[in-house]
Amino acid sequence: MGVTGRRNQEIYDVVGIGFGPSNMSLAIALEEHGASAAQDPIKSHFFERQPAFGWHRNMLLPSTTMQISFLKDLVTFRNPLSRFSFVSYLHASNRLAQFVNNADFVPTRQEFHQYLEWAAAGLRDRVSYGSEVVSIRPVTEPGAATAGLLELEVRGGDGASRVVTARNVAISTGLVPRLPEGVTADDRVWHSSEFLSKFKAQAPDDLKSVAVVGAGQSAAEIARFLHDALPHAEVSAVIPSYGYSVADDTPFVNQLFDPGAVDEYYFGTERARDAFWRYHRNTNYSVVDSDVIRALYQRSYDEQVLGNQRLHFRNLTRVEEVRRVGDGTRVVLRSLLDDRTEELAVDALVFATGYDGLDPARLLGEDFDRHFERDAAGRHRVERDYRLVSSAGLTCGVYVQGGTEHSHGLSSSLLSNIAVRSGEIADSIVLRRTERELNHTTAATKEPSAA
Ligand code: FDA
Ligand code: NAP
Repeated sequence: MGVTGRRNQEIYDVVGIGFGPSNMSLAIALEEHGASAAQDPIKSHFFERQPAFGWHRNMLLPSTTMQISFLKDLVTFRNPLSRFSFVSYLHASNRLAQFVNNADFVPTRQEFHQYLEWAAAGLRDRVSYGSEVVSIRPVTEPGAATAGLLELEVRGGDGASRVVTARNVAISTGLVPRLPEGVTADDRVWHSSEFLSKFKAQAPDDLKSVAVVGAGQSAAEIARFLHDALPHAEVSAVIPSYGYSVADDTPFVNQLFDPGAVDEYYFGTERARDAFWRYHRNTNYSVVDSDVIRALYQRSYDEQVLGNQRLHFRNLTRVEEVRRVGDGTRVVLRSLLDDRTEELAVDALVFATGYDGLDPARLLGEDFDRHFERDAAGRHRVERDYRLVSSAGLTCGVYVQGGTEHSHGLSSSLLSNIAVRSGEIADSIVLRRTERELNHTTAATKEPSAA
């Protein structure tokens, strides 16, 4: 759309791409800012490609728990008085007393999902579901020296596209599922991110031999689930380590997910940042909560006692190749112990092999992405307020929630800091708008009046 065609169209101060917890938290931070500046609220809208709200729905397995305290909800660390807190949700659900009686800081994933759905319902008027943002491009307004606007192409569920205009975008599109090189997903080869929908599409009796690849939280939860859900099946866990390693969530280490740790990481030396990762990667990656490890070991031990082993752990083993032979699936495993390979025939193979971080270049496209600076390692340079560092020709803003582990540290892809982070982004948008308006007024008063 040309600039003329935009004349009557709304220009948003910010458009959020994705409506997971990160952008929900931003929507709330903007609303709560608006409450204190009612005469001039920030104009925002959010686009979500799913037809309705959903948070990692395909991993909503029975008995799985959150990996954070309920107080690390969408708002509390920024504004404990917010109407969108987990405590408000419990109160609205008539379950506050029961929750407290349960004396557990860590809700189930089912309950946290319900909380997020409840919050999403309260934000219904500012999100369009079934709407995928497919491209973003900068636009320079007539008479302006720099590109101050962004045009986003949004594709609806019916395939029709529309264009919306904004001064800023907040890209919060989440993690990207990762399969080993050469592996493609199909009806019998699944990534963990599609687990429940693919599992439910199969007749359980057709699944007599299943395997799960990986030694992270997803892999362990899925192995436990399959063992329970398929009592007749052989379940193989292909784990690259010697055994599942425990996720470190002890209190000293947990401080690294505190809001203050973001400054220490961001402004720290390269050596300090390196130490965060060297010592503490085991808070999050390729690790499993101890209760799940124990539950799996107990199942295995019980089977040994009964002499009926159907849960098999193939440790120090990696997947080399997946072969389709007729209707069957064979996975080639390489043991690190003796470097031998072995083929295993499976009816379903689940790759719980993790995720890549958010990469804004996917949405910006090659041409636009060139306007954003990268560091020596080729990663986007990101300001403390989560805005991508851009070349001089751009005054529009691209904010990211996720994809900032290199600049802002380990909490970047997690929920721990979203309340504070989205508050910082909202503050930045408000501040930059005020500065722009002031510049505008100053420029107007300097202009010579017409004779
Ligand atoms: P999230 O992925 O939740 O949301 C992104 C949204 O953007 C999605 O709804 C997607 O559909 C949408 N989208 C993507 N592209 C789009 C486009 N082009 N246009 C429109 N919409 C688009 N962390 C933690 O701290 N504690 C925990 O307990 C857990 N538990 C957990 C369980 C599982 C199974 C996984 C895989 C991950 C976790 N995590 C976690 C980490 C996880 O990253 C975090 O919980 C949040 O999902 C991050 O929220 P976001 O909104 O950033 O991404
Ligand atoms: P992950 O922690 O990155 O684990 C991926 C695993 O796959 C690693 O063990 C990895 O081994 C292994 N792997 C990769 N390629 C392999 C191959 N070819 N053969 C064998 N193994 C291979 O991913 P995740 O478990 O999905 O966890 C991702 C995030 O989601 C984490 O933040 C986690 O905490 C979160 N999560 C939370 C919950 C919950 O809240 N209940 C549930 C699930 C996930 P290497 O280490 O050798 O690469």
